[in-house]
Amino acid sequence: MNPILKGAPWLVAHRSMLGIDKPYKLTLNGCDYVLWQNRNGDIFALENACPHMQAPLSNGWICQANNSIMCPFHALEFDGKGRLLKDGEPKGEPVARNLELIIQDDLIWTYGGFEPRLSIPELIPERTERLRFLGVACNKSIQTNFLSCIKINYDFNHQNGVHRDVFKIRENPVQTFDKDGYYARVVQTFFREDNTISEILQNPSLLSVPKEIQNELEYTFPSTALFKAELALGALLQFFILYPETEHQTRTFVLCYGNWQIPLLKVPGLRALIERSLLEATAKVVEQDSRAVESLYPQQKPKIRLPKEEIMFYVESLYNEW
Ligand code: FES
Ligand SMILES: [Fe+2]
Repeated sequence: MNPILKGAPWLVAHRSMLGIDKPYKLTLNGCDYVLWQNRNGDIFALENACPHMQAPLSNGWICQANNSIMCPFHALEFDGKGRLLKDGEPKGEPVARNLELIIQDDLIWTYGGFEPRLSIPELIPERTERLRFLGVACNKSIQTNFLSCIKINYDFNHQNGVHRDVFKIRENPVQTFDKDGYYARVVQTFFREDNTISEILQNPSLLSVPKEIQNELEYTFPSTALFKAELALGALLQFFILYPETEHQTRTFVLCYGNWQIPLLKVPGLRALIERSLLEATAKVVEQDSRAVESLYPQQKPKIRLPKEEIMFYVESLYNEW
């Protein structure tokens, strides 16, 4: 396939997604790779097709002692540089191509082997210093193209349709839209309707969501959209991450961080309950977005225009003019 946004930095995983000494399969721009992390936190990445007879290395297993991966077909062993190992020792030059990774704290970035066109954004480390990492919500493939997926993150009118039952938003005026190249910032307010008792019982984290919420969104094209909401508990930061797996499939996951202010959250059982329900609510939002973009008919020139769509046109032009 023709790589999408060649030379863009892609955030492909958070360290917690890899586990320890387990193969993790990654598809980026039509190529499959296998990643693994050892106990010391070193991370390795090779193309997934075994250089012997092209078995998927991600179906193999990790040899802890050698920091190597074993092929599931004939049990050949490769180190993180892609060299064949014999009795634990590398034999000659690499035979499997390795994927260059850039590790930024717990975040795993890559240019997918292309010449970098943008530097790795500092948005996540800068905004999350001293915050609590809550976890990863909804690590899944969306069955549609990258442009449709990214556009919904810049679409300030879809809440009333796609998310009508979760947020119950009456109005969401945008106060600020600033853009500077690949970076953009939006401030908006959500005015919500009341939730019913049964909605709250199903999703207790709704109790922490006020009727009027000031949201700040920050974007670093093309991988990251930060949604920051001030809840009754403190600030909730959700980083919506996207990368192209193929022309018709896009990966998404959400990194969630909290800056809790209220002492009640020092009670570990209660905190775990609320944090779990925030992660579940986040996953539900992503499911709704995914279903919406997967169900679209092929794009045509719109015959109607809504307000605030200039934010969406901005991202569309960054994509088209890449
Ligand atoms: S296919 Fe991998 S060892 Fe043969
Ligand atoms: Fe959405």
